[in-house]
Amino acid sequence: MLKGKKIVLGVTGGIAVYKAVDLVSKLKKAGAQVRVVMTEAATKFVTPLTFKEISGQAVATDMWYANQEFNVEHIALVEWADMMLLAPATANIIGKMAAGIADDLLSTTILACQKPIIVCPAMNTGMYNKTVVQENINKLAKWGMTIMPPAVGHLACGTTGIGRLPEPADIVEFVQQYLAMQEGDLRALKVLVTAAGTREPIDPVRYIGNRSSGKMGYAIAKAASDRGAKVILISGPSLLAPPAGVEFISVESTQEMLDAVLKYYDEVDVVIKAAAVADYKSNVVATQKIKKHDDEGISLLLDRNPDILKILGSRKKKQFLVGFAAETQNLLANAQEKIQKKNLDMIVANDVTLQGAGFNADTNVVKFLFPDGKVRSLEKMAKSAVAEAILDVVKENVTILRK
Ligand code: PMT
Repeated sequence: MLKGKKIVLGVTGGIAVYKAVDLVSKLKKAGAQVRVVMTEAATKFVTPLTFKEISGQAVATDMWYANQEFNVEHIALVEWADMMLLAPATANIIGKMAAGIADDLLSTTILACQKPIIVCPAMNTGMYNKTVVQENINKLAKWGMTIMPPAVGHLACGTTGIGRLPEPADIVEFVQQYLAMQEGDLRALKVLVTAAGTREPIDPVRYIGNRSSGKMGYAIAKAASDRGAKVILISGPSLLAPPAGVEFISVESTQEMLDAVLKYYDEVDVVIKAAAVADYKSNVVATQKIKKHDDEGISLLLDRNPDILKILGSRKKKQFLVGFAAETQNLLANAQEKIQKKNLDMIVANDVTLQGAGFNADTNVVKFLFPDGKVRSLEKMAKSAVAEAILDVVKENVTILRK
């Protein structure tokens, strides 16, 4: 989302100015062009030369400097920009913005700016919590500016609390999320993704589970969110961190996943069920750990779990339903049967016996099948690329369905 974006970065005087240098570098790596405007106080922490070298652009610091790059610097800057980002934003600049004060180059540029403005407050916890600062921040939000809340942690003044400038990578992620919501091609969609495997308890220490890591489902959730969709990720146990910007719901058993999915089903446009759901559960769940006996085996009686996708298929209204099929034989026939049985709009079939496909791999080898019998085969590719390809089909079809 940041490719080609023109960003005016306003840097004000706090110790976190050093992080803004890395922020410029990361924004540039993501494809943005960055012009830095510094307050006088900011130049006491890091010199404009550092920002000039990293951004590759002149740095503006002064209204009255005779050799300015543009005639009316603050107007030229905001005309050039697609957006402004203020990081770190001190209580002082926030106060000026809330009061409409324009007494230096940065505050004048902000006041002249008609483009989106993202503000990253950073200051001591006591200052941040002051009523006047909170009211000023609320005013900026009410007037349409976007506030990235500060992080909690160790502060330069020696205390620990809220007020840290978030890490540059997190600010870049936040800006990307913001842009995705404004411009992403899936921004009109609400997408529910399920991921990882469900677990069925046998006793307090044992369960029936499967080999799903969650990589496939998390890749889909991240790609959809990066393209601006509102994403709800319902996941069985996984070692992965949920992607930024998604609403995350953690479940364990199939019944819990069913309950969570049904809670959101009516409000979503698309469901993508990448989760590996346990088809069976133990008929009895022992309250104490089952003791082993030296020469006897044990039998477990298994009950059928609900088929979540089949239930969704039978209640389908506007939703575009994408299932997965994990197969070890007869891939196409089995997947085609699942499309019909579960009333799906598409199924992503993976032969999990193939090298670099299926469970826990970073890549997958999939075929897309459709109710009319069409099949599209994809090469082996990263799960992130499979996710993009699935979303391309979703986008095309949901648009057609809505026409
Ligand atoms: O998580 P990874 O390690 O990245 O692995 C990815 C994956 C192999 C798990 C993924 O690519 C995949 O194939 N997911 C579906 C696994 C599966 O349960 O397949 P199935 O053929 O048993 O089920 C068909 C479809 O019905 C699936 O969309 C499944 O979510 C759904 N289902 C199945 C059983 C059930 N009781 N309820 C369901 O909703």
